[in-house]
Amino acid sequence: MMPIRRDLKFDLADVDLKCWNAHGPLLSAYMNTLSLFFPDGERFFIHSLRHYRDRITDPELKKQVTAFIGQEAMHGREHEEYNARLEAQGLPAATLGREIFAIIEAAKKLPHEVQLSITIALEHFTAIYGDLLLRKPEIIEGSNPTMTAMWRWHALEETEHKAVAYDVYSTVMGKTLKAYLLRTSALVVITGVFLSAIASTMARMVKADAEHRHGMRDWAKFGWLMLGPVGALRGIALPWLDYFKPGFHPWDHDNRQVLDQIDALAVQYAAPARRLEPVAVAA
Ligand SMILES: [Fe+2]
Ligand SMILES: [Fe+2]
Repeated sequence: MMPIRRDLKFDLADVDLKCWNAHGPLLSAYMNTLSLFFPDGERFFIHSLRHYRDRITDPELKKQVTAFIGQEAMHGREHEEYNARLEAQGLPAATLGREIFAIIEAAKKLPHEVQLSITIALEHFTAIYGDLLLRKPEIIEGSNPTMTAMWRWHALEETEHKAVAYDVYSTVMGKTLKAYLLRTSALVVITGVFLSAIASTMARMVKADAEHRHGMRDWAKFGWLMLGPVGALRGIALPWLDYFKPGFHPWDHDNRQVLDQIDALAVQYAAPARRLEPVAVAA
């Protein structure tokens, strides 16, 4: 699977970001919270892979790493704009973003192999979240079409490059017991840190949204979306556990058929080509 860097642009100027999701402001806040983690998180993935770039000799994997970096850079750019619009609409995106940045900067002081194990753990999250979003369109169906397209694009590209960082890790760490223990313990720690960081960040995003107040019924509905049959959390439990199989590989779950959708999306949202200034031609 060779990922492709695509330059897509999503114009969020007219989107009410506090309530863009058809399920209402709480699911909007949940996905907005995820967005706050992306720009610096994805820069961290790139940073952790770059330590090992020179040790990759397989030309295919080298190309995949370059494409991975290109895709994550594009995601970061679009989520940065998304987050700036959250701030413009009165949500504390900049403050929360700075706090997330500080955590990620601290992670950059860890040994390189630990940084890479964190990256592949988080890439496992983005892959299984992405798969869920694509398999269960009801999470996002009927929502603002531009936001739907943006999240689908991100989910599709996370699927496309889901094995790249993992293959780099396997190449540099080998199939040793140490490699297994490091990657699985990283997933356990990261799951705790990541889910609690999302919960506390979302709580502050919800509190800051003065336009929407939530009663027990709203929270119960949100809990049902997370844990019920749609299962924004329940749906990732089994794929999360797969990571503990000693021979696990991200493409064991072969969902490449979903990538059929990506070309149409890429055409519809392609960034406009830079306009060249007309050249005056002498008569
Ligand atoms: Fe991404
Ligand atoms: Fe990714």
